[in-house]
Amino acid sequence: MSDVAVQLSAAWPAGATVGPDGLVLGGVPAATLAAQYGTPAYVVDEVDLRAQARAYRAAFSGHRGRVQIVFASKAFPCTAVVRALSEEGIGADVASAGELFIARKAGVDPADIVVHGNGKSLADLAAAVRERVAFVVIDNPDELGRLAEAASAEGIVQDVLLRVTPDVRGETHDKISTGQADSKFGLSPAAAIAARQRIDEAYGSLNFRGWHMHIGSQLFELDAFDRAIRTVAASGPCEVLDVGGGLGVAYGAGQEPPSIEDYAQTILAAVHDTVGDEIHLIVEPGRSMTARAGVTLYTVTSVKQNVSTWVAVDGGMSDNLRPMLYGAKYEAAIIDRPLPDPAQTPLTTSRLAGLHCESGDVLIDAVDLPAPAAGDIVAVPTTGAYTFSMANTYNGTPRAPVVFVGDGESRVVVRRETIEELGARDVG
Ligand SMILES: Cc1ncc(COP(=O)(O)O)c(C=O)c1O
Repeated sequence: MSDVAVQLSAAWPAGATVGPDGLVLGGVPAATLAAQYGTPAYVVDEVDLRAQARAYRAAFSGHRGRVQIVFASKAFPCTAVVRALSEEGIGADVASAGELFIARKAGVDPADIVVHGNGKSLADLAAAVRERVAFVVIDNPDELGRLAEAASAEGIVQDVLLRVTPDVRGETHDKISTGQADSKFGLSPAAAIAARQRIDEAYGSLNFRGWHMHIGSQLFELDAFDRAIRTVAASGPCEVLDVGGGLGVAYGAGQEPPSIEDYAQTILAAVHDTVGDEIHLIVEPGRSMTARAGVTLYTVTSVKQNVSTWVAVDGGMSDNLRPMLYGAKYEAAIIDRPLPDPAQTPLTTSRLAGLHCESGDVLIDAVDLPAPAAGDIVAVPTTGAYTFSMANTYNGTPRAPVVFVGDGESRVVVRRETIEELGARDVG
């Protein structure tokens, strides 16, 4: 292996290094992980994961009132991730009975669970009240009666928050922007105020506790959070304010999202100016909690040339739907052979193709790779959010395993799906 110093961008786990063994994740050579667990595989650096949880807790520790930081589990709904975060004092935001099941299996206290969704089914609502979750976030007026009934049936009074759409559009991809007036999520401030009145007047089994907002994901602009909090807080007095998630992450060199500390300062300043320092504050980070801890490993299956150089790998839109869904951009590196001296080895601008039968299944449109060849192991960083959770079995592809690494050790926390399992629900 060359001794050329390789600088990893902020897209890689904080503890990732490149040394004589190539890329090392959590103290384990990535090539060893690929050989041991096969590819594709999602690798999670547990130290990075826990460090993000601690950074969130520290950043909000200056707030005088209660602070609940709940992980938006849709970003990475597997029990090992949710459990590790829970051990660091982080609760769970769940968007279905299924995510609630995972959070409970991971040992999260129901008092640290917040339930979401713009299309909650009766089963979702029944599970929420049965589990005695802390809060159900109401998205629409139709939900009120159904949740009230479910709570009455359980003989409880359910604490609820109302999701307010503040008409603040942060700069992000349209498909992950949720704060604009015509969002499918939440209620306009006027509708939210009306829903609150209806709860007070008509639903004895529901207890309004406060407002919720979530204006979108992968946001770099702190001002949007500030404006949104000011609008939502103006909806009326509350005991609880849930400011959602949304802080962006660096997917490659040159991207500089705000730090968790700067994000927290913005939130706390807006809270101080509006609802006050005693408010019970809830924050729901997803992407910024887990994205950087995750690296996906692939094996190159072929390299061919037409107008482009096509480097095909053994995964694609089945393990990472984001490029296909909204043109998400990633970096990649070949990690299992000597890293060349950049001054001497020409880089090939390559298109990293997935294996699936869709022209759009291209993981990276243009990435410079040193003489890529079949058999190379390629790593794609920042894949710890919204990848595993959106995995699918298109083209009969078994879903990839999740491997935790840390302190020089590795362990499977979700095993690879088998071909037999693909047919298990197909009852003919
Ligand atoms: C209600 C809610 N809260 C929190 C999040 C987490 O957002 P992010 O992953 O951008 O932090 C989401 C993501 O879509 C969400 O819908």
